Amino acid sequence: MLKNMRVNVNEFLISLSRTLDFAEKGVLRNNYNHGMRVAYIAGRIALALSMPAENLFDLISYSLLHDNGVMKALLESPSREQFSTETSPSHCEEGEKNIATFPFLKREKNVILYHHEHYDGSGFFGIHGREIPMYSRVISLADQVAVRYAYGYTSDEIIVQINKEARIFDPVVREAFLEMSRYMEFWLGMDDMFVQSSLVAMLPQVQRDLNLQNIRSISQIFSNIIDAKSPFTGSHSRGISEKVGLICQYYEFDEATYWKMRIAADLHDLGKLAVPNEILDKPGKLDSKEFRVIQSHPFYTRKVLEMIKGFEDITEWASNHHEKLNGTGYPYGIEENQLDFNSRILACVDIYQALTEDRPYRRGMAHTDAVKIMGKMADDHLIESSVVEDISSIFP
Ligand SMILES: [Fe+2]
Ligand SMILES: [Fe+2]
Ligand SMILES: [Fe+2]
Repeated sequence: MLKNMRVNVNEFLISLSRTLDFAEKGVLRNNYNHGMRVAYIAGRIALALSMPAENLFDLISYSLLHDNGVMKALLESPSREQFSTETSPSHCEEGEKNIATFPFLKREKNVILYHHEHYDGSGFFGIHGREIPMYSRVISLADQVAVRYAYGYTSDEIIVQINKEARIFDPVVREAFLEMSRYMEFWLGMDDMFVQSSLVAMLPQVQRDLNLQNIRSISQIFSNIIDAKSPFTGSHSRGISEKVGLICQYYEFDEATYWKMRIAADLHDLGKLAVPNEILDKPGKLDSKEFRVIQSHPFYTRKVLEMIKGFEDITEWASNHHEKLNGTGYPYGIEENQLDFNSRILACVDIYQALTEDRPYRRGMAHTDAVKIMGKMADDHLIESSVVEDISSIFP
């Protein structure tokens, strides 16, 4: 039997989506906390509409994830500079595809796909009125309010703008918003400083027992987002997670450890979402300042994961992937007595994957060449030699 974890999916998602919001601020013009703010506004509208707790719960998950396709859409867009979510139906399509396995209480189709639809049918896909899923109609208005708020418009200006464009919003949703927008407290609650606690305070208390496989289906969504952040990362996280799966089977780990290792592999580079693309995608050599920024990524990974109850092992394995046995790794510089076997596995697979995968500027290395380099690293007491030997026999 798989070990279950009692998780509040909303809380879990808030922790992970903080990194998503961070990554998006580059894309959305310094729009901090966008996902969280949309979730807060959408949630308040839902409460004003007396939506039941279960629906509110799912709506908040959808809201936190509404722009999860941005990284992929951006990667495939011809011009990064001219990219805008307002002109990109593909971020809706990619986002819908990517959440297919998310454990919603009740899955509603096309919520993400239609989150930019207009009530009068003038949106990306020409869907109108009640053909647009209810959650999408709420998110669409919340999104517009959040974007304008981040641009610095006052509450009065935002209300005028929303009313001016009344035709694109569901009248019922707009009414609920207008009703709430009379209260100063509603606006204060979405300030950068308060938005997370405002959101947490209104989360419905829906606890769910998720098995590790369910949790993995969430971590996989984030692994896709991480991989989509840069053409240089390609399918790095996915490749590592698959190989980690193989090696765990080889070591005959129990099922709980197997899934925790897959989750750790999915999320090990989560912190890369916080590294600006100018550095991540820089073709030439990095200067020492840029290099330090890159090296901070496992630290971010730890900071996000350690907030999640029950994620202690996962946090450890995921955040240690650039540590070295002789203490010369980063960002902690810890040594072998603090590096458990599973951390060592992940570090080795990370290197193997990096060496063998194709990059835009070079082909991936052959198995034997990669193993040779890793053997040398093991001789220098950087990585675990027994894992290198096992990789050599499992992966060709
Ligand atoms: Fe969007
Ligand atoms: Fe958005
Ligand atoms: Fe890394």
